[in-house]
Amino acid sequence: MLASRIQRRAFSASARNLSKVAVLGAAGGIGQPLSLLLKLNPKVSDLALYDIRGGPGVAADLSHINTKSTVKGYEASASGLAACVKGADVVLIPAGVPRKPGMTRDDLFNTNASIVRDLAKAVAESAPEAKLLIISNPVNSTVPICAEVFKARGVYNPKTLFGVTTLDVVRASRFVSEIKKTDPKDENITVVGGHSGVTIVPLFSQSNHPDLSSNAELVKRVQFGGDEVVQAKDGAGSATLSMAMAGARMADSLLRAAAGEKGVVEPTFVDSPLYKDQGIDFFSSKVELGPGGVEKILPLGKIDAKEEKLVEACLGDLKKNIEKGVAFVAQNP
Ligand code: NAD
Ligand code: LMR
Repeated sequence: MLASRIQRRAFSASARNLSKVAVLGAAGGIGQPLSLLLKLNPKVSDLALYDIRGGPGVAADLSHINTKSTVKGYEASASGLAACVKGADVVLIPAGVPRKPGMTRDDLFNTNASIVRDLAKAVAESAPEAKLLIISNPVNSTVPICAEVFKARGVYNPKTLFGVTTLDVVRASRFVSEIKKTDPKDENITVVGGHSGVTIVPLFSQSNHPDLSSNAELVKRVQFGGDEVVQAKDGAGSATLSMAMAGARMADSLLRAAAGEKGVVEPTFVDSPLYKDQGIDFFSSKVELGPGGVEKILPLGKIDAKEEKLVEACLGDLKKNIEKGVAFVAQNP
């Protein structure tokens, strides 16, 4: 009697830890290593992969890795996409084109806006409760696009939509450790705002090294770190491996919070009250994650005068990027 009760309890606990995770754009430069890292994550029980080309091949390859999760690749069709996302707890979207040297992220808008809109429609229809993580650029606009798509279908939940800005945090931590000769794991740098150029605002005054907020070169390196990779790849794309790591970290944080872990905090671009009074509906700041996604959006806290100026510069561009996404869906529903 007692044994069966214990068994039942153990079963229901593990059932809560079963998570279907879908990757849309899974055969791409980010999609492949991201899917690999998710295959290695014991909290993922079902890995569902979709791409307009190559999804089943990537899935067959990953399915030979001897971790517990199942891996399935879906055919490139509306029904394949719907089946891929159905029942997913977490959906990551790294589908879309990357930058070439000389381009801004905003230059990707014309191509990526409709890709993300169409994938968001499928998620809104087949997995409206999933936590949706947007990697495709320009994140400042693609996240509002998803929100508009969900609103139009009456299924928008601001607590489950995330722009992935984790790479900015990862970079800031690494760059600081290079300067200070420390272990990057001890360097937690909060980065707020958005995910492009001056909308990326590192808050070094809140770190172990408050003096770094005066290091204009470092601030610029965090804001334009993506350009370094774009230039080094010389036309072959942008960050893929570091982004896969960052995306896998964000997904893992959400899965840990969903499993009941407390105190999981990540900076991420969400529907936020922080600057709504200035007409800015989305903003990245530290967010405490919980079983339902966003548990609590943390305020910026104390920042110094230099950072105040950076935030001011961020808000103008961010507002325009958000408005562009909203207008796109209004004109191209
Ligand atoms: P990539 O070209 O290597 O891969 C993109 C993949 O998306 C391809 O496999 C392609 O077939 C697929 N795809 C295109 N349209 C699709 C659709 N409608 N449905 C499903 N799949 C589709 O590009 P990448 O290097 O992986 O970058 C992808 C995106 O991620 C780019 O927009 C890039 O700017 C962005 N990115 C964001 C961050 C960030 O920090 N948020 C970091 C790096 C890159
Ligand atoms: C990055 O920050 O590396 C990405 O947003 C890709 C890019 O275009 O720089």
